[in-house]
Amino acid sequence: MKKITQISVVDLGSSKITCVIATRGEEDTSLRVVGVSSVPSRGIRKSQIVDIEDAIEAVTETVESAERMAGLSIKDVSISVSGIHIESQNSKGLVAVQDQGGEITSDDVTRVVEAARAVPLPTAREILHVIPRYFLVDNQEGIKDPVGMSGVRLEAEAHLITGSSVNLKNLSRVMSEIGVDTRAVTFAGLASSVATLTDTEKELGAVVIDLGGGTTSLCVYVDGALSHSAVIPVGAKNITNDIAIGLRVSLDSAEVIKRNLEPDEHINKVLDPKNLSSKKQADEIDLHKLGLKDAPRKISRKAVVEGIVRPRLNEIFELIKAELIKAGMGGKTPAGLVLTGGGSLTYGVTETARKILNMQARIATPSGLTGLIDEIKTPEYATVAGLLMLSNKEESTQSKSSFKLPKFSGKLPSSNSLKKVVDFIKSFLP
Ligand SMILES: Nc1ncnc2c1ncn2[C@@H]1O[C@H](COP(=O)(O)OP(=O)(O)OP(=O)(O)O)[C@@H](O)[C@H]1O
Ligand SMILES: [Mg+2]
Repeated sequence: MKKITQISVVDLGSSKITCVIATRGEEDTSLRVVGVSSVPSRGIRKSQIVDIEDAIEAVTETVESAERMAGLSIKDVSISVSGIHIESQNSKGLVAVQDQGGEITSDDVTRVVEAARAVPLPTAREILHVIPRYFLVDNQEGIKDPVGMSGVRLEAEAHLITGSSVNLKNLSRVMSEIGVDTRAVTFAGLASSVATLTDTEKELGAVVIDLGGGTTSLCVYVDGALSHSAVIPVGAKNITNDIAIGLRVSLDSAEVIKRNLEPDEHINKVLDPKNLSSKKQADEIDLHKLGLKDAPRKISRKAVVEGIVRPRLNEIFELIKAELIKAGMGGKTPAGLVLTGGGSLTYGVTETARKILNMQARIATPSGLTGLIDEIKTPEYATVAGLLMLSNKEESTQSKSSFKLPKFSGKLPSSNSLKKVVDFIKSFLP
């Protein structure tokens, strides 16, 4: 009988909590999505758990619903983590090559990456990922894979992503309450970048921006390697809040208005610039037609776009610009910006991004999955798609995977043992 591998992931976002179950055959390494469920978030603010009981309820609901759809039960999952507690830094590791003849083995590579991991961390912080950027063999720089090369001195330049222990502990508690093992915890922005960035963009250098509901995550790739990661505490929910305050409507109505700012193509076509009444018609949004009875009947599209949405988008991209400058990443990403996450669907986002950051920008939808993907082939689901791809990579190339996840078996610790939390945290080792 052919072996089917099941891969399940949960993305705990500020707007929605999503669970996806996929399967993979023995010979075919492509993933087939068989169960999808997304529920509005509860107990999560700015991508961090703020109410454990609410979060447990919402995760249980979405996990059970995905299980019902797939007709499968989940034993272990890969989950996402985000929030402003996520930080990154670059580090170096150095080891002597062990083989007398000087041939570098995968053991040497594992040791040098471990050495790069040995950085002093403030208390209550954990390393989430150690991602090699490149290696140096006897001072020769820029080596992608040193295995098989000759040398006596092996160095690694690595990118480290860290998170706060308290946040990781809360996540582990939620999952252990639900009774599923957590096989890996991945920074959500990293997962989104894996699902959206093309090889060419990665090689040239690009910034992946996941505009979520509560936060905006950045992953900067330079010369094919992840070089900076960060989270900014502003997201697309701030745009909804601004519309609600500006127009004095409910948050639900503001959300509907935000999603309907795209001018009707037909109106644009028939629009005669000299005909003032057609121009006025193109600028007006009839809220009653959108089913909003708590709002005024008509509002000016221009007033909402230019007066409310644009200033907030400007602010978000100014914060991103400041982060890129602070990290010394200015001018290193000629392939430009890859925008994803639900907030990338905001009207006018690419235009604002291009203007403020002075780079080309595209909106990216995750690709590379098959099966029941209709619901998840939008930018909102870049993180779950990336979580699936990373888990699949680890499953299919256990021995030489560049994304190796240590197995975590048994239930996650609920509260007492912080050290055990570290055991299930993923390291990316070559
Ligand atoms: N079609 C759309 N037009 C405009 N905005 C949209 C659209 N679809 C989703 N959004 C916005 O995207 C945001 C949610 O994005 P996403 O689902 O990526 O967030 P999340 O992953 O739950 O949150 P986070 O990553 O911040 O923890 C919401 O603010 C929502 O209003
Ligand atoms: Mg998200």
